[in-house]
Amino acid sequence: MSQIQACLFDLDGVLVDTAVYHYKAWKRLANELGFDFTEIQNEELKGISRVKSLELILGWGGVSKTEMEKTELATRKNNWYVNMITQMQPSEILPGAKEFLIALKKAGYKTALGSASKNSGVILEKVGITYLFDAIIDGNSVTASKPNPEVFLKGAEAVGVTPEACVVFEDAIAGVEAGKAGGMKVVGIGLPEVLINADLVVSGLHEMTLENLIALN
Ligand code: G6P
Ligand code: MG
Repeated sequence: MSQIQACLFDLDGVLVDTAVYHYKAWKRLANELGFDFTEIQNEELKGISRVKSLELILGWGGVSKTEMEKTELATRKNNWYVNMITQMQPSEILPGAKEFLIALKKAGYKTALGSASKNSGVILEKVGITYLFDAIIDGNSVTASKPNPEVFLKGAEAVGVTPEACVVFEDAIAGVEAGKAGGMKVVGIGLPEVLINADLVVSGLHEMTLENLIALN
């Protein structure tokens, strides 16, 4: 084993593709409020918390709401979203994700989830990969959102590994920044021209092997 001892995973866009469900629910909300919401705008919400996402959407629609109304709108969107994710199936795990997690566990690496989502528990359970994580840190256990490194620092602490010995897997620019701010190595999932600060960029976890993990040292 290399000096890398733990891998910390973002959820949405790395292990599962829930962006499509977020998109449907936000679009329905925007339409009810009288404006549209595009897939391009949805891209900008990757890694961004529910409340911050709502504020951005309201801004795009030129709509202002009180704090109480915002809470109600976020809850309404989340109820639609939860209805969709509770129907998720193991087949919705992104290619190579489960295989890579299994390989990591077999080789003795620690694994943790580091997600902004408050729904990560139900998603992991529905797709059947909860057992592959030593720790789950998500939107319910952090106060600062990415690019703040809190979610990954808590993940490292939970598995008892120093940040320098951790590798973060992230598809969002804010998440790559969070990992780097935490002093960790970062593997970007996506395009190198977008995730410019990542140490390595792959198109998905199907491209990851223990060999290219060790080569990050
Ligand atoms: C992830 C997604 C974001 C989402 C956030 C909060 O970071 O990439 O699009 O807004 O989680 O998700 P939640 O399930 O708590 O609404
Ligand atoms: Mg993500």
